[in-house]
Amino acid sequence: MQFPAIRLRRNRKTQWARDLVAETNLSPQDFIYPLFIHEGNALKTPVTSMPGVCRLSVDLAVDEAIRARDLGIPVIALFPTTPMRLKNEQGTEALNSNNLICQAITAIKSKVKDIGVMADVALDPYTSHGHDGVLLDNEVDNDKTTEILRKQALMLAQCGCDIIAPSDMMDGRIAAIRDTLEKAGFHHTQIAAYSAKYASNYYGPYRDAVGSIQLGQTIDKRSYQMDFRNADEAISEIALDIQEGADMVIIKPGMPYLDIISKARAQFNTPLLAYQVSGEFSMLKLAANQGLINYENALLETMIAFKRAGCSGIITYAACDAAQLIRK
Ligand code: PBG
Repeated sequence: MQFPAIRLRRNRKTQWARDLVAETNLSPQDFIYPLFIHEGNALKTPVTSMPGVCRLSVDLAVDEAIRARDLGIPVIALFPTTPMRLKNEQGTEALNSNNLICQAITAIKSKVKDIGVMADVALDPYTSHGHDGVLLDNEVDNDKTTEILRKQALMLAQCGCDIIAPSDMMDGRIAAIRDTLEKAGFHHTQIAAYSAKYASNYYGPYRDAVGSIQLGQTIDKRSYQMDFRNADEAISEIALDIQEGADMVIIKPGMPYLDIISKARAQFNTPLLAYQVSGEFSMLKLAANQGLINYENALLETMIAFKRAGCSGIITYAACDAAQLIRK
């Protein structure tokens, strides 16, 4: 059969026909919403590099979690903006059981029903140098860092964190964390491993938001985060993390790495999450502010792209925006 018997435009003619044959759909349930937490009370400060995003004190984070839950978003992800005075070479504040992130988890878990709480395991919000681990001879030391991450993960689980998300890229850390959690009786704490996390140029605004390094400065994480020339290696990273006990895997950044998502989808049955990172989010916002694109339409297009590539969920600063658009 050929033209004119075949006309693919027939199924595109009306909205109802397009809806009927749509291969991909979005729902607020697809999103994980990151929040930046800082000290204070009823305090909200804009992250200037991320238009529309604010750092929130714990009480306001509770309100924001309620708003997300009411929009149908299943999970929030918490990131601390640690005050400079609490940072040091070893990132010891990460193991303070009353640190900002523990306060936020405890408050949200006790006050907000029916929302999952996810938190990063990594030292970068706590170290004075901004690296994800501790340094030995100017190198992030894998095994020493992993020992600290075990403790950090256990502490987060003890606070009630539902999903532990190791974002440090140390080798063997998923097995170590899983072992620690099982031995301590946290049999049902989920691990979402940042398995394929690239040494990307798109993390700048996040680092500004948590204060790990200043905007415009760079930090070289290439000895632990992945080389963006590699795809097969991402598959090896994901396979290892699944073997070591990850319940979900994260690919990060998102849009420039749709090929990795689609390759991973073809090989693994484990739920896959994409992280639309800060640089991607801010590029959308700033382009829209300049009148170059329509924020709402372009946002939904990027979300659909993640689903089409094979993601089960998307971590995005635009989660509430997208959920609102879908609902109306
Ligand atoms: C660090 C971490 C980073 C992000 C989340 N956790 C950045 C980094 O590796 O320096 C970036 C998220 C974003 O850019 O939105 N463990």
